[in-house]
Amino acid sequence: MSATHRIAPSILSADFARLGEEVRAIEAAGADLVHFDVMDNHYVPNLTIGPMVCEAVRRHVGIPIDVHLMVEPVDRLVPDFAAAGANLITFHPEASRHVDRTLQTIRDAGCRAGLVFNPATPLHHLDHVMDRLDIILLMSVNPGFGGQSFIASTLPKIAEVRRRIDAHVASGGQPIWLEVDGGIKVENIAAVARAGADTFVAGSAVFGAPDPDGGYHGVIQRLRAAMDT
Ligand code: DX5
Ligand code: ZN
Repeated sequence: MSATHRIAPSILSADFARLGEEVRAIEAAGADLVHFDVMDNHYVPNLTIGPMVCEAVRRHVGIPIDVHLMVEPVDRLVPDFAAAGANLITFHPEASRHVDRTLQTIRDAGCRAGLVFNPATPLHHLDHVMDRLDIILLMSVNPGFGGQSFIASTLPKIAEVRRRIDAHVASGGQPIWLEVDGGIKVENIAAVARAGADTFVAGSAVFGAPDPDGGYHGVIQRLRAAMDT
């Protein structure tokens, strides 16, 4: 396993009534990021958590908060999440009228910026913004719910984005993280890593199935160990 592989538990599958305790537990268990899913019942058919909850979570952890915006429009919420302690903010290009402006708004707010691609969203949205990205997030399920099955056609798409990032870096560009979100489990994380991902979101795999002996630490260790297989 490379030292640059990051595990980002999605708190969508956490116990929201005990959220402070839950995020402290995943940080203690070795999580690299808190993945924070924001849904608006407009861009996606579900409703979750906003900047006030982000601010509350911020007080409980030191690791970066990775805010995944599934909202439309996007721009209005960016400064609110930055003020609430977000470190990374990603959004779906089809949910923003002005993608370049939204990326700049995120960076101006002091956060790292990224685009999210649904399973059927084409990669051409990357064409003119590579120099403005800190992270690219590929969805391996359709957004809106935790606990769905990994869509296998994401694997060649991950490999294609890995090629684009490597070419960008080889020609002098900044590093860009490649994150994958949806249906990642101990059983398939190695294939996702081999395809070229470096950052792995896991919601139900962490919060829904803590190791009987090792709890969240146990499952995070098993995810890391499985990457080597
Ligand atoms: C889906 C969310 C994901 C989700 C992942 O719209 O963006 O982050 O919580 O959950 P699992 O790992 O259960 O697929
Ligand atoms: Zn997500």
